[in-house]
Amino acid sequence: MKVLVTGASGNVGRYVTEELANMGEQVVAAGTNPKKLSELFEDKVDTITFDFTNKGTFTNALENVDRVFLMRPPHLGKPEDLYPFIDAMKAHKIKLVSFLSLMGVEKNTIPPHHKIEKYIEASGIPYAHIRPGFFMQNVSGVHSVEIKEKNQIFIPAGNSKTSFIDAEDIGLSVATLLHNPEKYKNTAHTITGSEALDYYQVAEILSKVTEKHITYAKPGYLKYRRYYINNRGLDKAYVNVTVALYFMTRMGTAKDVTDDFFKLTGRQPRTFEEFAIANVNCFN
Ligand SMILES: NC(=O)c1ccc[n+]([C@@H]2O[C@H](COP(=O)([O-])OP(=O)(O)OC[C@H]3O[C@@H](n4cnc5c(N)ncnc54)[C@H](OP(=O)(O)O)[C@@H]3O)[C@@H](O)[C@H]2O)c1
Repeated sequence: MKVLVTGASGNVGRYVTEELANMGEQVVAAGTNPKKLSELFEDKVDTITFDFTNKGTFTNALENVDRVFLMRPPHLGKPEDLYPFIDAMKAHKIKLVSFLSLMGVEKNTIPPHHKIEKYIEASGIPYAHIRPGFFMQNVSGVHSVEIKEKNQIFIPAGNSKTSFIDAEDIGLSVATLLHNPEKYKNTAHTITGSEALDYYQVAEILSKVTEKHITYAKPGYLKYRRYYINNRGLDKAYVNVTVALYFMTRMGTAKDVTDDFFKLTGRQPRTFEEFAIANVNCFN
C-alpha cells in the first residue's frame, strides 16, 4: 500500500516525500499544481492532482493508500476547510494520519491546528500529530529579502527566543511515524531544534556565515505590518497571522526545547548555524 503526501511541494512535504522514498515506501505526492510536482520529483514518485477544496479529487488520491501526511496550506485559514478530506480518510479506513500541527497547540485553542487535531481524534482515525517549532525556512524564505537587500532581520519578535527546526528534520520525523504506523498510533510529538535563539543571535550567526554585517532591526508590530503589506505587497490576512504568531512568540511560546526529534530518529537536529552554512545562497 502507498503513502499519500499532501503539500508535497511545500517546505515540509518535499522532505516527507524524499525520506519515505528513501525508506522504500511507495509515495503519492499530491498538490494542486502537478507540473511543480513532476519538476521537483521527476519520476521518483507518483504524483496526483489533489485539492482540499475539491471533493472530486479525493477518491483518486486515496486509491491504494493506507497512510497520509496531512498539512494545512497556509491560505486555508478555517479548520473546516480540511474536514471533508478528514471524513474521506475515515471512510477509506486510513491506518495512520500524521498531521503537521504546531508547537503548543494542545494548550492554545486559537490556531486552526487545534481544532483540526481534535477533529482527527474524534474521527477515530489512528493519528500521529507532529507539532514543530518555527521553521528555519522562515528566515531563509519570506524574511530573506531584507537580509539580502538591507543586511537586516525585520521581524517583530522583540527579545524573545525561538527553538528553530529545519523542515528537513520535520520531514524525517514524519516519515519515521508513517513508516511505523502501529508503533506510533495515537501519539503526538513536539519537534524543536536543540537550542533557543533570539534574533540578535540569529543575526550574529548570519553575519559570520555570510561575512556581511547583518543586524536585527527589532521593529514593532505596526511598523512590521505596514511594511509587509505596503512595501512587500503580501496578503493582509497572511501578515495578520504572522503578527499574531510573533505576539505569541514574545509571550514565550516558541522557546521550549524538546528531545522528541532524537527520540524518533536517534539523531541530533540540525543547528541554525549548520542550516545557514548549507543555505548561504539564500542570504547573499
Ligand atoms: N512556518 C512555520 O514556522 C510553521 C511552524 C509550525 C507549523 N507550520 C504549519 O505548516 C503548514 C505549512 O507547511 P509548509 O510550510 O510545508 O507549506 P508551504 O511551503 O506553505 O506549501 C503549501 C503547500 O500546500 C499545497 N496547496 C496549496 N493549496 C492547496 C489546496 N487547495 N489543496 C491541496 N494542496 C494545496 C501547495 O502545493 P500546490 O501549489 O501544488 O497546490 C504546497 O505544496 C501550515 O499549516 C503552518 O501553519 C508552520
